[in-house]
Amino acid sequence: MNAIPTIEKKGGVSTLLVDGKPMILLAGEVHNSSTSSLEYMEDVWTHGKKLGMNCLLLPITWELLEPEEGHFDFTLVDGLIGQARAHDMKIVFLWFGTWKNAQSTYAPEWVKRDLKRFRRAQLEKGQNFMLMKKFHNLAYSTLSYLCEETMRADAAAFAALMAEIRRIDSDYHTVVCVQVENETGMMAAARDHSDEADTLFYSKVPSDLAAYLRENTDTMVPEIREAVLGGQADGNWEEMFGAQAEEMFSAYYTARYVNTVAAAGKQEYPLPMSVNCWLNREGAIAGIYPSGGPISKVREIWRFCAPSIDLYSPDIYLPDFQGIVSEYTRRGEPLFIPECPTHSYAASRNLLCVGKYHAMCYSPFGIEDMGQPLNASQMALFGADPSDPALNKSQDVETYSQINHLLDGMMDKLLSKYGTTELDAASGEFESESSFHMDGVKIKVKYTEKEGGLLILRESMQEFYILAHHAWLNFQSDSPEKPGIDILALEDGQFVDGVWHRRRRFNGDEIVSNTFTADEPVLLRVKLFTYC
Ligand code: DGJ
Repeated sequence: MNAIPTIEKKGGVSTLLVDGKPMILLAGEVHNSSTSSLEYMEDVWTHGKKLGMNCLLLPITWELLEPEEGHFDFTLVDGLIGQARAHDMKIVFLWFGTWKNAQSTYAPEWVKRDLKRFRRAQLEKGQNFMLMKKFHNLAYSTLSYLCEETMRADAAAFAALMAEIRRIDSDYHTVVCVQVENETGMMAAARDHSDEADTLFYSKVPSDLAAYLRENTDTMVPEIREAVLGGQADGNWEEMFGAQAEEMFSAYYTARYVNTVAAAGKQEYPLPMSVNCWLNREGAIAGIYPSGGPISKVREIWRFCAPSIDLYSPDIYLPDFQGIVSEYTRRGEPLFIPECPTHSYAASRNLLCVGKYHAMCYSPFGIEDMGQPLNASQMALFGADPSDPALNKSQDVETYSQINHLLDGMMDKLLSKYGTTELDAASGEFESESSFHMDGVKIKVKYTEKEGGLLILRESMQEFYILAHHAWLNFQSDSPEKPGIDILALEDGQFVDGVWHRRRRFNGDEIVSNTFTADEPVLLRVKLFTYC
């Protein structure tokens, strides 16, 4: 029982092990301010539980953890862990330290006030603060990724947090992962413009980084590969990387900083550690999105600088959900989504992430509001689109809960198929029809609503478990030698303690011409037989 949560990579798939057993985090992230009150959180746990979640992603903020330098208050940390245990749920803590959304608003007062000791980034020469002209004129300031004093202070606070988690949780494993900082990088400029930054930027690129980048061009996004191969073989950042130099410079120093914080924490208690990404919209330039943050574009720099980081997690609010998921899994990294919308595609995306991408974590953001009409800022964040009403509607809580409970019940089965072709999924958001071909049978699906989805797991020869929602299914032979097909068994039910519990057995009107329609989320056991 004493094995610390860890990530195991086996047969090309990475899974989170908790108490030595694989686990999928069917999770939810709470709003930024919820965890500042244990009393407020009581209802949030109940809501998360109702949604079938087994884990919550919860901010721990530097300002409340260390209100005075060297004086730590663990009331919230200990209280949240106690609440999670009472609700039989797990926690991923989110460390809001130096950075939260590319700003430093969660740094304690004693850090914010001391501009000399804890230097701010200069967005323009001599400017610690500015209004972002290209970003709704919002006021902006951030601590500098070059300030060693801030890095040491943040690392010390994070180490104290991890030591406390070890103290109260190393026998229980309620906390299974920790996110280090939140959406790092800097806005308004592609790099710090202080004198110190200029000196470093116009000095030679560290030779170990340059060598690593040249050896790892295969996995790079095209613009970084071109920059690495196209620039001078040796020289300063601009000479070596041209137009990409400023973002690469910021990535190098941000990743080193975050790694120092993560390593200090791991020294106390080595839980898996993640970083989340504020994504770069297609065609946007660094500074319009946080420059130097851990996006796929600069992954090779982060991987070189941050060996203590285990997971790179996209916060997916942009519309191209599948494209982003593919980008963040193409290097063989596990899918860990800490934030995504609670609009009405939330449930079908959950099925897709688990079934098709064998995700480690799927976690909509702001679960307190799931089921409530979306407000204006959520509409903007979620990419509201009148031509797709599903984007403007909140996820139905009952549906989300049913799907999560069914997934949770079959977790061992799902995990036994992770990394194989015997587990797949598709969703009505991305296609109106899908076909799955396995064991000489074809399972054709038409989605009766765009919010529909389907996950299929091959149990044994021509026997499947299918989790379907808003889907019409048709079972056909896929083999010319055996064109006939019978449905030997079609039933719905659920797994309880790993054992299948049948509810209805379907036949007659419900399966005319080998079809079945799933209006509500339903888990089916299907046994087919092909013959000639
Ligand atoms: C992304 C951040 O990581 C979250 O903390 C939150 O601020 C959302 N954006 C916006 O609601």
